[in-house]
Amino acid sequence: MSERLVVIGSQWGDEGKGKITDYFACRADMVVRYQGGNNAGHTVVFDGHKYSLQSIPSGIFNPHTKNVMGNGMVVNPVSVIAELQKLHDQGITDYQLYISNRAAMVMPWHSALDGAYENIKGKSLIGTTKKGIGPCYSDKYSRLGLRMGDLLEPEYFAERLKAALEVKNMELDMLGLPKYDFKEVYDQYMEIAGKIGHMICDTSDLINEALLTDAKILFEGAQGMMLCIDHGTYPFVTSSTPSAASVPVGAGISPKWIDNVVGVAKSYCTRVGEGPFPTELFGDLAHEIRERGHEYGTVTGRPRRIGWFDAVVARYTARLAGIDNWALMLFDVLSGLDKVMICTGYECEGEILQTPPSTISRLSKCKPVLIEMEGWKEDITGAKSFDELPAAAKAYIRKIEEVTGVPVGIVSVGPDRNQTIVVSEKLREF
Ligand code: GDP
Ligand code: IMO
Ligand code: MG
Repeated sequence: MSERLVVIGSQWGDEGKGKITDYFACRADMVVRYQGGNNAGHTVVFDGHKYSLQSIPSGIFNPHTKNVMGNGMVVNPVSVIAELQKLHDQGITDYQLYISNRAAMVMPWHSALDGAYENIKGKSLIGTTKKGIGPCYSDKYSRLGLRMGDLLEPEYFAERLKAALEVKNMELDMLGLPKYDFKEVYDQYMEIAGKIGHMICDTSDLINEALLTDAKILFEGAQGMMLCIDHGTYPFVTSSTPSAASVPVGAGISPKWIDNVVGVAKSYCTRVGEGPFPTELFGDLAHEIRERGHEYGTVTGRPRRIGWFDAVVARYTARLAGIDNWALMLFDVLSGLDKVMICTGYECEGEILQTPPSTISRLSKCKPVLIEMEGWKEDITGAKSFDELPAAAKAYIRKIEEVTGVPVGIVSVGPDRNQTIVVSEKLREF
């Protein structure tokens, strides 16, 4: 019987999903991305090298692992080719990559429109990555989209491209943006098909076949639960569902297969882009944590906003995504602070809230109810077991378990693959 593990972001993204996926991918038969696109930036560090992945799954470094870009993703083939080239340049040449024929394809007008919408919004902009993710998902749901499998049937691709351009060129024109010429786009994408067409297939078939064997299969989420289109801080969210709940749809499998979910969470919180952030810190302390954690976006280089660990968010996302264990990340970054805080509730207009309110107007009024914990000074980057951690650090972890109701299964004490303490027996066996 196959073993499945879902790795999701439980905050606002950049929690360290790439690191955790790579850690388990060393022994996984398959790694599947099931939503999002090249808005993601997943960092993997091992043997003194650092790699950054955007749409390619983080199992790409293990030649024995089948890496799958599922149908729920929005795939920018130009960016996939560039990513593969970069990996080649870094010596990663032996890999297995499969792209779903049903995945939505990000077209050049999607990033143009993403930028234009942001400009029109002016001060109330979302702060997107401008990779065209929102416009591509919108076209998918408007049934105006092209899909990766279309590239394999040139006549059909031409038909779909014409239909899309008829509407898109009207929209681009209205916004004062340059229109796209059918022939130019057609030729460019046929050239792309020549480069990556052999990777495009029915990945749902592939995954379902593996599920019936004793394969170890890992599902790698992108973004984080608070950026979820349904449950996040709407409209300051991405356009997909980063939850474990979107694995079945985005990978093309039955929901009955999902039973082991790791929620990747920073030991504090970060957010990049606009939108409310109840535990946000400013000034010297935010600066200190940002510098120690190198908190600058992998995709856009923007400084990440910093806040305390938010148990309101953690409880909410654990409930929504069925999180079995936390992977508590960047724990080393907290070493050296006199005090560390955990937010256990929100004070909002005289009420104490246990879950985030649905509107931005109310969420913006929420003040964190904080508990203060003693800090620790020791360098923990070399710790190999939970027992080696300083007493105050252990107390902080136990408190997170207590206020969230979810056990900490992994403690990460540095960016490297080796700086990973697996506490959970079940995860150690994966
Ligand atoms: P992802 O999008 O969830 O994969 O996360 P990112 O890669 O965007 O951001 C996480 C950052 O933290 C990367 O630079 C990682 O190398 C780094 N990182 C991951 N785990 C740790 C850790 O335990 N300690 C430190 N100091 N850095 C970490
Ligand atoms: P990973 O997988 C952090 C944020 C953007 C913006 C909002 C919408 O690396 O954790 P989009 O381009 O998706 O329409 O932008 O979502 N965002 C992320 N923030 N990590 C990510 O991915 C993100 N992907 C999107 O900054 O606020
Ligand atoms: Mg990231």
